[in-house]
Amino acid sequence: MEKITSAHAMELENKYGSFNYTPLPFVFEKGEGIYLWDPEGKRYLDFVGGFSSVSQGHCHPRIVKAIQEQAAKLTLLSRVLYSTEFGPLAEYATKLLGYQRILTMNTGAEAFETSLKIARKWAYTVKGVAEGQAKIIVCRDNFHGRTIAAASASSKAEHHSVFGPVLPGFIHISYNDLAALEGALKDPTVAAFLVEPIQGEGGVVVPADGYLKQAFALCEKAKALFIADEIQTGLARTGKLLATQHEGIRPHLVLLGKALSGGTMPVSAVLADDEFMKMLQPGDHGSTFGGNPLACHVALESLKVIVEEKLAERSEKMGQIFRAAVRDLASPLIAEVRGKGLLNAVVFKFGGDASKDQALSLALKENGLVVKAAKTNVFRFAPPLVISEEQVREAVAILGKTLKSFA
Ligand SMILES: Cc1ncc(COP(=O)(O)O)c(C=O)c1O
Repeated sequence: MEKITSAHAMELENKYGSFNYTPLPFVFEKGEGIYLWDPEGKRYLDFVGGFSSVSQGHCHPRIVKAIQEQAAKLTLLSRVLYSTEFGPLAEYATKLLGYQRILTMNTGAEAFETSLKIARKWAYTVKGVAEGQAKIIVCRDNFHGRTIAAASASSKAEHHSVFGPVLPGFIHISYNDLAALEGALKDPTVAAFLVEPIQGEGGVVVPADGYLKQAFALCEKAKALFIADEIQTGLARTGKLLATQHEGIRPHLVLLGKALSGGTMPVSAVLADDEFMKMLQPGDHGSTFGGNPLACHVALESLKVIVEEKLAERSEKMGQIFRAAVRDLASPLIAEVRGKGLLNAVVFKFGGDASKDQALSLALKENGLVVKAAKTNVFRFAPPLVISEEQVREAVAILGKTLKSFA
């Protein structure tokens, strides 16, 4: 096939693609470890990291091999038939993460939807909530995906107005606000509190120490489920296998996605014990592709890479080095550095000027670093977890150099 240039790739996408993204004008054709290459052959450090999906590094050889082997053997059955691949993944994942069962889907948004179904049915059949009345408490500035249920759970008014009617049954409270949670849990129709341990898309918002632990205790007291959306924070991203482990809690339901396949294909999951998983009986839920043999084989290898390459420990250590090195830059343009493990944000003093974000991304890219704002003035730095100390320091040096000449 004819080699495509960056300019041509952008021209085609802009002409024939849909309008639902405003991509930065960057084109890549190859990835390996923490690097990306553009079609012209220039190499970059990738600190977008597929939004925390390519934690094992781009095209990890073990994961690529797993795809190739399984793709040549068996890819899809549907779970109305047993495969040789689902069981081994289920056993490994549940033992690793400490739950009795796993339900596999494809995208993160589907894992989110699955958990809503479990929580609602549990509310009706166990908690005794009157049918049709169950509520889910969610936090403002959350991100759980792009389906209608996720748009309904979103606090973004613009999603409600143009995609309505939204689903009823969500109570919005402030993030990191225990008093608000306690108040909302007084409603006896509450089925669950669904929360991101760190708000990723919201700008890497890290709640106060103890927030998750106390929130979990409040849920237990109010007989409501605590659902952790660990789609972005899970699987070693924040320095532990699950971010909720930082506070020693074990949510009733955990949602995973993204790094579950090392960024190679959509694989998501809900982890839960029998008492909650049994809410979904035959006919209640499913997906043609959910739990397909290819996805299971790839997910198992992806989890093994995280464990065997000690990516949680690496994430913890490299995150500390990253934050300290960014603070050491002492740039007058940096207002704050925050995060856990390798899920970090650098907040810039651009006074809410979004055009500066774009300009900074372009300047950083020119110098070999790919990174993007999660929200105005807040850049998320989430590289593959296989990053070395040298690469972390190289990225921070690029940031320092770029900021010096950035007006
Ligand atoms: C916390 C969280 N939940 C859910 C999702 C949705 O995942 P997907 O894009 O795979 O549907 C995301 C994606 O960014 C996420 O960060």
